[in-house]
Amino acid sequence: METASRVELIVKGNLPEVPSQYIQPPEARPNLHYSGDAASIPTVDLSSSDSAREAIGDACRDWGAFHVINHGVPIHLLDRMRSLGLSFFQDSPMEEKLRYACDSTSAASEGYGSRMLLGAKDDVVLDWRDYFDHHTFPPSRRNPSHWPIHPSDYRQVVGEYGDEMKKLAQMLLGLISESLGLPCSSIEEAVGEIYQNITVSYYPPCPQPELTLGLQSHSDFGAITLLIQDDVEGLQLYKDAQWLTVPPISDAILVLIADQTEIITNGRYKSAQHRAVTNANRARLSVATFHDPSKTARIAPVSQLSPPSYKEVVYGQYVSSWYSKGPEGKRNLDALLY
Ligand code: OGA
Ligand code: NI
Repeated sequence: METASRVELIVKGNLPEVPSQYIQPPEARPNLHYSGDAASIPTVDLSSSDSAREAIGDACRDWGAFHVINHGVPIHLLDRMRSLGLSFFQDSPMEEKLRYACDSTSAASEGYGSRMLLGAKDDVVLDWRDYFDHHTFPPSRRNPSHWPIHPSDYRQVVGEYGDEMKKLAQMLLGLISESLGLPCSSIEEAVGEIYQNITVSYYPPCPQPELTLGLQSHSDFGAITLLIQDDVEGLQLYKDAQWLTVPPISDAILVLIADQTEIITNGRYKSAQHRAVTNANRARLSVATFHDPSKTARIAPVSQLSPPSYKEVVYGQYVSSWYSKGPEGKRNLDALLY
């Protein structure tokens, strides 16, 4: 199995045709000619929290996703993170990459890989994506020796990037709580200690983009995701029964509400369903920073928003069920509805 996934890593991007494991069933294929664009996805200016709070409430209700600007994260750090990510995928020889190969038999293990689902059977369609996952919080999980050593500032930049994203995530969880009339700390207290993973995704050019997905439709399973992308389009949001392409904005950070925030807010705010499409001409890069509860945390709607519409769930069980069943839209979350 390990050998098989290694062969795919080498092959992807060099073939005239898509190998059969990557061909989506007709109903899941992207309609690249008719996808709408999410030009109207809200952009929230964080320089004033008073006006931001209200804008965030509207964005969470209408979209489950929004861009933030004046977010306090230095723009050169966003740029450096993107260029280091790209350098790992494009400049390191395969031997070097495989030195960091993640353990494909355990969920969300750290390192380089290309298979999202566990125990991928022959009938599972694979994503047209390679990735590198970094564990960055809590500090006890942070071990930079697991990360690429080239370029020489790689490890330091990932550390700084994680620190900055965590601060921003905490600020946003505070504003999201307040936008619902809750105390600032409500959602963060319900999440508990924050577990942060940084996943750099690399989507090689694909010879038949109309048959594949870079990343299949899903909502993120943690609390809040902060995503940056390069200038190549590919990320799509599902809204009002349509797939809309999120325009890349290089200085902005995209905020995605994830499943645990939907549960904690008792469905007032829904997690954003999204996917990535591929293209034939240019490789695409994104950096997603996930903020999740601990595996042992019990997640339930806050009492102020009762009566609860969602059952309490142990986060680790939610994640294992997600990995074993696959994302398939938002099926995992719907299973918790009363
Ligand atoms: C993810 C994700 C989208 C992208 O990693 O969960 O949705 O644009 N990524 O790479
Ligand atoms: Ni996602």
